[in-house]
Amino acid sequence: MAVVRVHNFSISLDGFGTGEGQSLEVPFGHAGERLHEWFVGTRFFRAQDGLSGGTQGADNAFAEQHNRGIGAEIMGAGKFGPPGWQDDPDWKGWWGPNPPYHTPVFVLTTRPRPSIDMDGGTTFHFLDATPAEALAQAREAAAGADVRIGGGPTVVRDFLAEGLIDYMHVAQVPIVLGRGVRLWDGLESLEQAYTIEPVSTPSGVTHLTFTARR
Ligand SMILES: NC(=O)c1ccc[n+]([C@@H]2O[C@H](COP(=O)([O-])OP(=O)(O)OC[C@H]3O[C@@H](n4cnc5c(N)ncnc54)[C@H](OP(=O)(O)O)[C@@H]3O)[C@@H](O)[C@H]2O)c1
Repeated sequence: MAVVRVHNFSISLDGFGTGEGQSLEVPFGHAGERLHEWFVGTRFFRAQDGLSGGTQGADNAFAEQHNRGIGAEIMGAGKFGPPGWQDDPDWKGWWGPNPPYHTPVFVLTTRPRPSIDMDGGTTFHFLDATPAEALAQAREAAAGADVRIGGGPTVVRDFLAEGLIDYMHVAQVPIVLGRGVRLWDGLESLEQAYTIEPVSTPSGVTHLTFTARR
């Protein structure tokens, strides 16, 4: 059976996956770019933007797992656009005409709209569905490959709460945000369902992998 995975999901020491005050100008609110500095500095990330260079150590080794074997992504409305994007009929996500997914992407939203075909093989589908229903559609679209749960924190938390995630990589960044959207709320004793391994890197990030005990 194909695996449901989370990769490179960055949180602060106090567990926030995004800051407060998300907008078109600041997609991560008051967190700014701090949650992702380690990621955008990797060779993997820079290569996606057509840039050379970047870190090549353990941070990069985690980063480059992002797309391997992935056949579809599920994301939340809060990742797809800033608050209110549903009122803009021309909004097609943050990523320009050729988004870095190259697969079907299922956007969970209470205000669905028709699917959008983008360049490079990405199609955005919009679903008002339970996590299990969305996953069933994504699995079918992935045609045997794995499904990535792409965030934000609300959607990852909801899929964890329903026991739908087989493998998760969280990057814990050494900052304290104090406010925003937390990943861990309501997930008491989650550790009992997973084998958790930490790896710290010179960038100050602690990578945590969660492998479901099934
Ligand atoms: N830390 C990371 O690595 C990372 C990764 C990705 C994104 N982010 C950031 O996370 C933030 C977004 O996260 P978030 O937690 O605010 O939002 P989110 O998880 O992206 O989306 C939550 C929203 O999706 C819709 N939704 C969720 N489940 C649904 C369901 N079952 N059926 C229908 N609609 C559903 C609802 O929106 P509506 O009711 O409005 O439709 C809900 O408010 C952004 O700042 C983004 O940049 C961080």
